[in-house]
Amino acid sequence: MTKRFIFSIALALGLVVGSVSAQAEEGGLPPSGSGVRDQASLQRGAKLFFNYCVGCHSLKYVRYSRIAEDLGLSEQEVMDNLNFTGAKFGETVVSHMPEADAQKFFGKAPPDLSLEVRAKTADWVYAYLNSFYLDPSRPVGWNNTVFPNASMPFPLWELQGVQTAVKKPGSEEVEKLELSRPGKLTPEQYHQAARDLTSFLEYASEPAALQRQKYGIWVLLFLAGFTLLAYMLKKEYWKDVH
Ligand code: HEC
Repeated sequence: MTKRFIFSIALALGLVVGSVSAQAEEGGLPPSGSGVRDQASLQRGAKLFFNYCVGCHSLKYVRYSRIAEDLGLSEQEVMDNLNFTGAKFGETVVSHMPEADAQKFFGKAPPDLSLEVRAKTADWVYAYLNSFYLDPSRPVGWNNTVFPNASMPFPLWELQGVQTAVKKPGSEEVEKLELSRPGKLTPEQYHQAARDLTSFLEYASEPAALQRQKYGIWVLLFLAGFTLLAYMLKKEYWKDVH
């Protein structure tokens, strides 16, 4: 009897897990595993963004002061470790590359990344950061399986290492990517770095999400208290009717 019971629970769990992972694989992208609730991850992601991305990309809806407040950093820490453009603490994050130059170098201006995760999803950004490979036929020397022919040179190659494409026999289609030269990070460490960056961009896409969770608890408590009051009031009104 108990054995059967355990078996059916295991079966049900298996079905749930199976359907969830089938869903995750449906879009063809590995789940990013990123999230805005892990403050240490957001801090590491911010550091990566300001060291490797802000040279080309801005976050025009995000202020340095807001990053400090939301990520638990002091003004000093943000100005010393994240702000290399000479912007003021209250200013928004603007790349120091003039758009005309970018247009000239890459044939395409690097887009503002404030809303990138909302536009493309966290899974897409995470997969994109994992899918650069060396391609001498491209003007910038790099290509990407998630965003074919993207005109972005891969800035994290020293960390990830260099990936090359293994083509399907007799075709130009990429079968898989191989790490042909290891980077400073192990593959696991690099996945975590890509996850941290994705988390930071997820936060930038909606800085209010952190606050909303904080206020949400108070709203629920208020609603619970109000329900109790309304119930007591109703009892008081109807007391004499019967
Ligand atoms: C040397 C300049 C340069 C640097 C540095 C750079 N990018 Fe880019 N990035 C570009 C360009 C140019 C494009 C536009 C590619 C295109 O549309 O073909 C782009 C596109 C992107 C896109 C896709 C935008 C879309 O179209 O949806 C993402 C995401 C992105 N970059 C993230 C990053 C991150 C994260 C970093 C830091 C690790 C970074 N980039 C560093 C130049 C750069």
